Amino acid sequence: MIAEKMKPLVQNNSAIRVMFEEGKRLASIYGAENVYDFSLGNPNVPAPEEVKQAIYDILENEPSTMVHGYMSNAGFEDVREAVANSLNKRFETNFAAKNIIMTVGAASGLNVVFKTLLNPGDEVIAFAPYFLEYGAYVRNYDGVLVVVSPNTETFQPNLEELEQKITEKTKAVIVNSPHNPTGVVYSEDTIKKLADILRAKEKEFGNTIVLVSDEPYRELAYDGVEVPYLTKYYDDTIVGYSYSKSLSLPGERIGYLVIPDELNESELVITAATIANRVLGSVNAPSLFQRVIARCLDAKVNVEAYDKNRNLLYKSLKEYGFECIKPEGAFYLFVKSPVEDEKQFCEEAKKYNILIVPGSSFACPGYVRISYCVSYDTIKNSLPAFKKLAEEYGLRG
Ligand SMILES: Cc1ncc(COP(=O)(O)O)c(C=O)c1O
Repeated sequence: MIAEKMKPLVQNNSAIRVMFEEGKRLASIYGAENVYDFSLGNPNVPAPEEVKQAIYDILENEPSTMVHGYMSNAGFEDVREAVANSLNKRFETNFAAKNIIMTVGAASGLNVVFKTLLNPGDEVIAFAPYFLEYGAYVRNYDGVLVVVSPNTETFQPNLEELEQKITEKTKAVIVNSPHNPTGVVYSEDTIKKLADILRAKEKEFGNTIVLVSDEPYRELAYDGVEVPYLTKYYDDTIVGYSYSKSLSLPGERIGYLVIPDELNESELVITAATIANRVLGSVNAPSLFQRVIARCLDAKVNVEAYDKNRNLLYKSLKEYGFECIKPEGAFYLFVKSPVEDEKQFCEEAKKYNILIVPGSSFACPGYVRISYCVSYDTIKNSLPAFKKLAEEYGLRG
């Protein structure tokens, strides 16, 4: 009955979601406070107060037809202009409303990008570890995801391998910084090198290679680390942004794409992407939340809460003998499994009511992802369990 293309998706139904369900099951047996669910990237820090105020104010004071009606498929003109102006102020860019397309979160934005760009057999390159949905999004449009293997020393992108893997079929390269699942932030130096490679390859093959910057974690960066704005380094860039993490609004499904004038055939791409938004069935991004984010462009979630979690969890896990790099952004730790089969390690962790996600869910076996977007108490309470787990594996206890 179901489509062939859906069958592998059904078979490999997301391990992260499965773990989330397992968390609920364990919580019903042991009590939520005794289950340490680090599986999902569901922000626990509340949305800023400005969001609630904006919702009240809009519903109270704006005409219903202006809030809930159909609009241009790219989104409300004034909202797009406000987003463009805000970006220009922050990053010294030069965007106008026409360069912004409001989307149903980052996930839908990426689907719009691939629908817009890909012919069957076109290749999109991603760096492992990567957000596994990329593969599904690319295959939605009969593209082929080509994976560059991880540099497990630094988890910075392996640029030598990238250079080898670009072919005349390469249509796009997707990057994600701050990064899920490692928390790495790509430095300006890395971005410059990446841009140089892409420019050289565009010349060699006479094709446009689009750099897709998937950046839902842009605002979650610690210790003052800079997150470079990629359109400034490489003309053929499309940015996919989301408020899911930056304003803790994942259920509201709101984000945008930036398609700059510098992109090759920019106007045509903007028109095609706007149509893609429509024909993919999203039609347009949620109207109320377009209005909300336009009023909350300077609002911030409490990043310090994530930072506090990051510091405690990182310090403790290192003390217990686990190996991992200190994340500079996002809200994940990517920890080396003490045994080769990290799935087995995740199963073992479950016995201590710790729920973590195998690295194979990010095309990087041998590692596990711990989401620390949980309460500080959950982290504190979980530490004895992590310590016991470390001892079981003979790590420094
Ligand atoms: C790297 C990455 N890209 C995209 C998304 C999808 O974000 P959204 O909720 O805005 O669709 C996520 C969500 O966790 C993510 O981690």
